[in-house]
This record gives sequence, structure tokens and C-alpha cells, in this order.
Amino acid sequence: MWELVQETVSFIKEKTHFTPEYGVILGSGLGSFTADIQIEFTLPYTEIPNFPVSTVEGHKGALVFGTIGTKKVVAMQGRFHYYEGYSMQEVTFPVRVMKYLGVQKLVVSNASGGVNPNYKVGDIVFITDHINMVPEHPLRGKNDERFGPRFVNMSEPYSKKMIAVAKDLAQKNNIEVKDGIYLGLQGPTFETLAEYKMVKILGADCVGMSTVPEVIVARHMEVETFGVSVITDMGNEESIDTISHDEVLEAARKAEPKVRKLIKELILNY
Ligand code: HPA
Repeated sequence: MWELVQETVSFIKEKTHFTPEYGVILGSGLGSFTADIQIEFTLPYTEIPNFPVSTVEGHKGALVFGTIGTKKVVAMQGRFHYYEGYSMQEVTFPVRVMKYLGVQKLVVSNASGGVNPNYKVGDIVFITDHINMVPEHPLRGKNDERFGPRFVNMSEPYSKKMIAVAKDLAQKNNIEVKDGIYLGLQGPTFETLAEYKMVKILGADCVGMSTVPEVIVARHMEVETFGVSVITDMGNEESIDTISHDEVLEAARKAEPKVRKLIKELILNY
């Protein structure tokens, strides 16, 4: 894995001398954040050695390099999900590459289903913690100490400082935000009513099919991480009948301008 990552990093560094400080991973329906980036260089996943290729609807597959104000950013337009059939190593490969391109801080967005009764569709949630229920762990197998330790401390998967700064910025920009615990499942089915109830009983506020593997791998390498989720559907009796990918995308797109603004402000100010 180390060699593959270094090979990919060398390839990218030959293409661009850009050294990003921030990594951004954009979730379903949240890809237009790249419009806020003063783009220097775009690299389609298909052209990057060792990179998997994104297949899911609503995602474009490219690494976008550029600046937001004075901050240097690399954004993943489209991510890799375990349910697509990729291995956990493939799902998290881009995070490893980002790290060795120079990334110290990672911002991850996603769409999720809400189980907290205080949530409603369109809510923006800062992720304060997660519950990993994806059936395979991205760090299973021989550990390479060059990346990080065998046993990773997960006391602060989502940076408290970044959350505090983002909350302050949300308030200044009159954007209402909530916070909550994200539970990661494999998908690709949306949850049954019994499963949404389980998610709630387990102590989570929302549930989705991404983010957790990437955040674990980021923390393995001591990358500071911020996660934001858009509640695109509610996992309850009243709402479950209509949950679909279209509904998810539509709700994500509606909330997108606010999420974009928040991510932009956070990057500018942190
Ligand atoms: N469940 C799982 N993943 C999701 C959901 C959901 O309800 N909404 C968006 N992603």
C-alpha cells in the first residue's frame, strides 16, 4: 500500500507542483463546491495510477486542485463507496494520497438519513462522532507504521476545534446548524424501519453509507478532520415510504449552497 500511495503521489507531483493543505471530499449532490475553488488543475480519476474509478450516479470523478482565498485545496469530486464493490483499501486510497500530497486537514461532506426526531429534511449537521458499523474495517490487516500506529486513538475523530470554528462561522452567516452522531452502514439499501429504529437506539442521530472509513484512515495518519452531513430523508414511519436516491439528491442539492458556504468559510478561517 505504501508503495502504491507513493507512486500515485509522485505521478501527481509531476503533473502539478501544487501542495494542498486542505482535502475536501464531497458527498452525493454536494459536488458543486468545486465552483468555489479557483481551479489550478483538474485530474480525472481515470488518469491517476492506482485510483479506482467512481461509478455512482450524481458523482463526477476527479481530483480538483486550487485555492480558496490563500488556502490551497484538493477536492475529491466523487468518492468511492464500499457498496460499489471496492475494497476498503480502495475506498480510502485517495485519503492516503491526499495526506502525502501535503493535506493536514480534511473536510468531508455526505448525505444521510435522520433518526433524531429534532431533525428535518434539509438540516445541516456537524458530525461530532461516529459509530462504525461498516462490516469491514479499513485498517484490518498488517499495519504499516509509516502511515500510523496499529491501534488508533479515536477520542476525537472529528476535530473539536474545527467544529467550534465552524459553529461560530455558521452563526455569523445566519446558517442554522445542528450536531450529531453519524452511524456508518454498508448500504446500498436504505434502512428498513426496524434498522432506522436500531440506529436511533444505538445512539446515533443520522445514518449513511460513507465517511466513516475515510475518517478512520485520516485519523490513522493524524489528519485533522471535519464532517458535515445533510439530512436528506427521515428514517421514520411517516417518511420512509418515499425514500429514494432521487429524494436524497434533491434534498442535498437544496441544502448545498449553505454547505458550500460553510466549508468555504471554514477553510478560509481555520
Ligand atoms: N440511509 C443511508 N444512507 C443514506 C440515507 C439513509 O437514509 N440518506 C442518504 N444516505
